[in-house]
Amino acid sequence: MKRANQLQPLSRQHHLGLNLSRHAKECIDEPAEISKHWLNITGYLKEMEHHFRIEDNLIVDALRPYQDSKPEVASVLNTLDEQHKALHALMEEGESSESSQSNPITVTQVRELATLLYDHIRFEERELFPIVESCLTEAELDTIYEASPDSIKRSDENR
Ligand SMILES: [Fe+2]
Repeated sequence: MKRANQLQPLSRQHHLGLNLSRHAKECIDEPAEISKHWLNITGYLKEMEHHFRIEDNLIVDALRPYQDSKPEVASVLNTLDEQHKALHALMEEGESSESSQSNPITVTQVRELATLLYDHIRFEERELFPIVESCLTEAELDTIYEASPDSIKRSDENR
């Protein structure tokens, strides 16, 4: 397989998230729009649990040996961890206030979550993935590809 094609399934999932979050960032203050965009983003995040696990486990484990010698690796690992936690915290905060106190989600919450998701995906594509491509061995990249969901792979890329 061509080097870094192994990251294509994850990138395809990113592409979908960028589209959803770009629209949700522009959400207007209107109940139907707020709930539509909130569901789009939280639904996407829930479907991406497996994607997050690949990043938090396979990618983080493979990069960790370089973090002492390469400051840029230490920096992307920190950012990745902070952003994944922040995304989950914002989503859970919204869902618990919504269910326990019957507080409707606000347009601010939608835009905040959408902006975080958008910035996070841009960070992964522009900063994290280039480092992953340069540091990981072919075998480590293959493992990431194997772990990615079959539904997002293409029949012609495994060559
Ligand atoms: Fe990601």
